[in-house]
Amino acid sequence: MAVKRPSGPQGSLIMGNANQFREDEPKFLLESVKTYGDLVYFRLANMHTYLVGHPDLIREVLVTQSDKFEKAPLDKTILGKFLGNGLLTSDGQFHRRQRRLAQPAFHSKRIQNYAGVMVDYANQIMDGWQDEAVMDITHEMMHLTMLIVSKTLFNADAITESGDTAETISSAMDDFQAVSNRDYQRGFSLPNWIPTADNRLRNRAATEFNKVMDQIISGRRQTAVNGQVEDTGDLLSMLMLSVDEDGEFMDDKQLRDEVATLFAAGHETTSNALSWTWFLLAQHPEVEAKLHAELDSVLAGHQPTLADLPNLPYTLQVIKEAMRLYPPAWILNGRLALEDAELGGYIVPKGSTVFVSPYVMHHLPQYFDEPEAFKPERFTPEFEKSLPKFAYMPFGGGARVCIGNAFAMMEAQLLLATIAQKYRLALAQTEPVRHKAQITLIPENGIQMRVMERETAVSPTAELSFA
Ligand code: HEM
Repeated sequence: MAVKRPSGPQGSLIMGNANQFREDEPKFLLESVKTYGDLVYFRLANMHTYLVGHPDLIREVLVTQSDKFEKAPLDKTILGKFLGNGLLTSDGQFHRRQRRLAQPAFHSKRIQNYAGVMVDYANQIMDGWQDEAVMDITHEMMHLTMLIVSKTLFNADAITESGDTAETISSAMDDFQAVSNRDYQRGFSLPNWIPTADNRLRNRAATEFNKVMDQIISGRRQTAVNGQVEDTGDLLSMLMLSVDEDGEFMDDKQLRDEVATLFAAGHETTSNALSWTWFLLAQHPEVEAKLHAELDSVLAGHQPTLADLPNLPYTLQVIKEAMRLYPPAWILNGRLALEDAELGGYIVPKGSTVFVSPYVMHHLPQYFDEPEAFKPERFTPEFEKSLPKFAYMPFGGGARVCIGNAFAMMEAQLLLATIAQKYRLALAQTEPVRHKAQITLIPENGIQMRVMERETAVSPTAELSFA
């Protein structure tokens, strides 16, 4: 019997809607929901795709019926080539075990210790800036979040004498991300043994990465006392110390996969959130002025600390609104239906793929008045309470909600406060800045910005440590 499908955009016989999709993915998805409603059907070559555009249906996919779905094969194949069976790419029972083991590393008390490191690195980055210099701010933010993730994940600057560990790892990560983006663009990934230029690049990156990680992990095991590795304050220590209910620790291969996953998931996302924030602030002087007023009155020239964050509500609103307009994770990983699932009165057949897109939800006028406008003022506590769950979802939702959510929000708020207290960033390019949907939503060609010192006295940089 033919399955009744929800409506959706017309496509071509062979490619379906793949070409329209690739032109501007977030826009295609948004227009589809606006035109066809809460559940849209389209086809990307041979992939039968259901796009969910209503909070209640998203709840069905991510919460109520989540056991009927797993991560889609395309995502698992492309990302799994480097991230193995880590938190982002694993499923079912195994994922639940790993999530339980990793959770203590993200306990709020634990991650709060990283506030000092975040502020210190922001200061270190700014030490390299000169008043009135023009730079690609996406590059600066990427470097900054990479240093922070290396330090908090495996205490990077303390592990090799040459001090190049973070650089080796981040260049391996860059190669992996570049190849993965090209695979997504193609819509498939050739098996690793085929010696294409991209496969060779990714295999080399994986070998480099694994070599460094193995050194780090075995170093930690060597200094263990009575089989107990030392807690050096970073996330890796916690992962190595975690035991499951059967008394089992993670083995070295699994530790590597989790570290690669946290590294990959944990820096480009936050870096993009910040780059888009600078871009928006530069175009909205009234928002920028209000942000500066808050920073100047609350911090009065002191370095921001964890204790200041509750007193910087507007700073937080600015970040939330930037992540609404430009959600770094513009789409969740596809979800493969493991069995037929009923959604909004339709049957989503086994084997089809479900898309959930934070970008789409964040741009719907039924939830966000003037959705294209940058208005941090909208994010009042009352407004947030009144929003249906899953209308605003930069970190996804359900059991697979981002494990680094609180880490990322603390990081973004601290970095914005530290930098905006010292510098104003103005747009220094005439070409329009366009989004590009890769694994994350990036500015297509970076953003050239001029950094200008503000006239506020800020106390000097402190020591780099897990305070
Ligand atoms: C602004 C920054 C960030 C954004 C927007 C973001 C967004 C997301 C989203 C949307 C998901 C869900 C993906 C899905 O359901 O398919 C996710 C998962 C994940 N994120 Fe983040 N993330 C951010 C920062 C971080 C950080 C800092 C870390 C770690 C240090 C991290 C680690 C992870 C991991 C491990 C997962 C997989 C969780 C699981 O499936 O159990 N993320 N993130």
